[in-house]
Amino acid sequence: MELLFWGHMVQWNVENLLEASARFVWCDCSSPLHVTMFLRVVRALCCWLVLLACVSASEDFDWTKNDQGSFYYGTFPTGFSWGAGSSAYQTEGAWNVDGKGMSIWDTFTRKKGKILLNDTGDSSCEGYYKFKDDVTMMKDMKLNHYRFSISWPRILPSGLKADHINEKGIKYYDELINMLLDSKITPVVTLYHWDLPQMLEEKFGGWQNVSMVYYFNDFANLCFERFGNRVKYWITFNNPWSVAVEGYETGEHAPGLKLRGTGAYRAAHHIIKAHAKVWHTYDTQWRSKQKGLIGISLSADWGEPVDITDQRDIEAAERYVQFYLGWFATPVFNGDYPQVMKEYVGRKSAQQGLGASRLPVFSSQEKSYIKGTCDFLGVGHFTTRYITQKNYPSGPVSSYFTDRDLVELVDPRWPDPGSEWLYSVPWGFRRLLNFVKTQYGNPMIYVTENGVSEKMTCTDLCDEWRMQFFKDYINQMLKALKDGVKVKGYTAWSLLDKFEWDEGYSERFGLYYVDFRNKNKPRYPKASVHYYKRIISSNGFPNQREVDSWRRKALESCSSSNQLLAADPLIRHMEMVTEIVVPTVCTLCILLSAIFLMFLLRGRF
Ligand code: NOJ
Repeated sequence: MELLFWGHMVQWNVENLLEASARFVWCDCSSPLHVTMFLRVVRALCCWLVLLACVSASEDFDWTKNDQGSFYYGTFPTGFSWGAGSSAYQTEGAWNVDGKGMSIWDTFTRKKGKILLNDTGDSSCEGYYKFKDDVTMMKDMKLNHYRFSISWPRILPSGLKADHINEKGIKYYDELINMLLDSKITPVVTLYHWDLPQMLEEKFGGWQNVSMVYYFNDFANLCFERFGNRVKYWITFNNPWSVAVEGYETGEHAPGLKLRGTGAYRAAHHIIKAHAKVWHTYDTQWRSKQKGLIGISLSADWGEPVDITDQRDIEAAERYVQFYLGWFATPVFNGDYPQVMKEYVGRKSAQQGLGASRLPVFSSQEKSYIKGTCDFLGVGHFTTRYITQKNYPSGPVSSYFTDRDLVELVDPRWPDPGSEWLYSVPWGFRRLLNFVKTQYGNPMIYVTENGVSEKMTCTDLCDEWRMQFFKDYINQMLKALKDGVKVKGYTAWSLLDKFEWDEGYSERFGLYYVDFRNKNKPRYPKASVHYYKRIISSNGFPNQREVDSWRRKALESCSSSNQLLAADPLIRHMEMVTEIVVPTVCTLCILLSAIFLMFLLRGRF
């Protein structure tokens, strides 16, 4: 992925405009060296004029303005659902207990050099053992829903229903669901959050193989049978883009295959078919009895044209979103891949001399089977990119990324407190939600992931940047609602700090801090817990005075948690003293006294 660190052309005052055009000229590395200064100045001037036109011409432009003045005070509709999320591999730990089988992530994390610091999710947050504490925390936050995923190999250790059903795994999820319901928290259950049973990868090649469609359907069917009397919100796949691209194209994620230019498309094709099959299974066999809803959770960044007056940039930005969100959403809503994907991948494949497109084709029967298989759309969103057109000459090496003919850019002034890729750009969220509304017939949306991370080294529980992130992103969601987007719920990502895939534990997304150094994995509320609680209890942002006071109050509360966390090494030390040193000293004392007594008695007789 190519990221250039430019200032964006869109700026708010003349000073910034000048600065932007200067950077634009400076970054123009493609011009031949003999280009005269004159041409550069002309070009800079043109850019400047274009920018000026952008600023003055478009009313819509105000949309991107992200200052206090554009903050919208108001509340969400009654019944709007507030939640937090997690996933099995990222939080459960207990990787090999109670009959759980291996997943591709258990295998992948064991290969040296795949994960930062060679970390694994073996114990992670120990969520498998601590779920009762976690539900208590959710209850305290007054969450309306909790999103979690079911680990396929915990229930079906080999992946196949015909082989063996692990009742202990079922029991774990039963208890979690029951406790949530007892606490008036709606379970929102993801069936696939990336932990494919290892056996299915080894024996069949995982998502490269169409047989996954049937095995996944068996697994889903079992979940409906066992949990569906209590679970009413099902998500088939979480972020299939990552599964396909990072699992089978770049190899950064499990199973770590680098099948460039083909692997991602094939994996996605089978995932879409599997999603449709499971939707039909639910629809025909369970819906009338269980009365639930089933959707898919798609993640997408927003792509904004670098130059909103340049048709090539506008089309490139559209392509960016179509190759990201549209790749999965268009089949699910309209039955087939986006036209632009078919065109671009088809053309590139032809230029490579291939007889057929690397993008697989749905038969007309499949198209009508897949179309409309979505009761609601789950949207996972974190960040935005600026996009500009760039032609990649097609050679023997192809990839999903070069197929798109574009370049991603970021504005270096966007805040990025944690993950390298995650810049806070709240206005992109509103645009993405509006895109969903117009492209897919205004479906019902649940935001299934939205949040921000900080670096592992950060032990400050007063996470001001996260409060700001939630405030601004949730506000943009409120504006989208006013635009007519049908958003029904919001899931803060994530409840806890947890295993962050190839980044190990180096990026903390949690509302709650988890002390991974301590074997008990204690949780500490960050300030954002208190802030989010206020948003939930007010169902939005009632008025400026009140909202301003939330930040202050949240910061007051986090300083005491900070002290607790700081005292943790001391407490652990004390625990060690009581658990190891005291018993050892006592045993020694008893032994010595016994020996002494023996000698004493011997001397007597
Ligand atoms: C999306 C993934 O679904 C989730 O597991 C991950 O934690 C977030 N992105 C943040 O990277």
